[in-house]
Amino acid sequence: MVTGGLGYIGSQTILELIRSGEYEPIAVDSCVRSNPETLGRLEAISGRKIKHYLTDICDKENFFRIFEEEKNIAAIIHFAAFKSVPESVEIPLEYYRNNLGSLENVLEACTKYSVKQLIFSSSCSIYGDVEKLPVDESTPVGTPFCPYAHTKQIGEQMLRFYADIHPETKYIALRYFNPIGADMSGKTGEEPKDAPNNLLPIMTQVASGQRECLSVFGTDYDTRDGSCIRDYIHVADIADAHVKALQYLEKEPNAPVFDAINLGSGNGVSVLEMIEAFDRITGVKLNVKRTGRRAGDVPAIYSNSTKAHTLLGWHCRHNLDDMISSAWKWEQERIR
Ligand code: NAD
Ligand code: WQD
Repeated sequence: MVTGGLGYIGSQTILELIRSGEYEPIAVDSCVRSNPETLGRLEAISGRKIKHYLTDICDKENFFRIFEEEKNIAAIIHFAAFKSVPESVEIPLEYYRNNLGSLENVLEACTKYSVKQLIFSSSCSIYGDVEKLPVDESTPVGTPFCPYAHTKQIGEQMLRFYADIHPETKYIALRYFNPIGADMSGKTGEEPKDAPNNLLPIMTQVASGQRECLSVFGTDYDTRDGSCIRDYIHVADIADAHVKALQYLEKEPNAPVFDAINLGSGNGVSVLEMIEAFDRITGVKLNVKRTGRRAGDVPAIYSNSTKAHTLLGWHCRHNLDDMISSAWKWEQERIR
């Protein structure tokens, strides 16, 4: 079961699960933040019919009904959540309610319906402003800088405590850094319902004329070119790591009951370097304006992903060129 299966990362994960040839994914998504038409695109790309339940996971009765109908759900990958940092500051209670209420029901369902594996979407935002780079899993969880990051910190704690009393299920929190890009087919990708806040979707909107210009938030940081550094990672690599995490839990009976694993490329790329790469790869020169810092931004963060390499046998297959070219291809397809 892939909750949030019609969202950005969930839909890509459905494709990678099907491509692995080992899984038959079922999507559960209320479409509160996604487009129901995504399902048709996934079916066209994969050439397969995909089962989808239009259900709010916070609605326990309806959510549990899916398990009565489906029986034998082997694993849940729980993506469904709200994910916007600025929005979480505006409507914190809705973030706590949705992100934690859905997780509560997912955990209860794991026990009630004997689901053996749960993969939880966590985030590098749990680390906050770090002292030492790169960030590995021993880096302490920081002071939460927004309600969204706080829901991911609490979510991981919920898994830890629940795992203590329900070790019959195995739990992995995957901490994503900055997922970007689209399926390499260019036929599906991110489709934010509201105006995006993330860098690459804004860049593709500027390039396609839907926005006038890109603001660079801060060029006076203590980094190599003054702009912020992030660890961008292709969404298909993030999705593939979920497939590898399920395979790992299946073949490693001695895997710990709970584990947390970083998913990043390990490369730090600055905002100005992203702009240069975008211009070079797409041939479109972005209209750029340098502005002040955005509140809450950390100067630099990137991952040490050795644990994912060693435990899961996972490695990134895509580089920055793939991330940008696939996003640009999808943006052009989308606005056609
Ligand atoms: P997304 O908004 O594209 O997808 C989330 C999906 O969950 C949406 O389709 C939405 O309709 C659905 N959803 C939300 N609440 C629901 C509910 N109560 N019941 C049923 N469906 C519900 O987001 P995404 O980028 O695909 O992120 C997926 C997960 O990964 C989230 O948990 C997010 O916090 C986490 N994450 C994302 C990023 C990122 O940069 N995209 C980074 C780190 C972690
Ligand atoms: C990247 C860089 C901006 C927009 C967020 C969440 C994090 C995780 C990933 C979910 C930053 C700069 C951006 C713009 C810019 N998500 N920027 N102009 O903030 O690193 O991470 O997404 O878990 O929790 O916080 O990603 O894409 O918003 O920004 O200069 O118009 O681009 O300042 O340095 P961020 P982002």
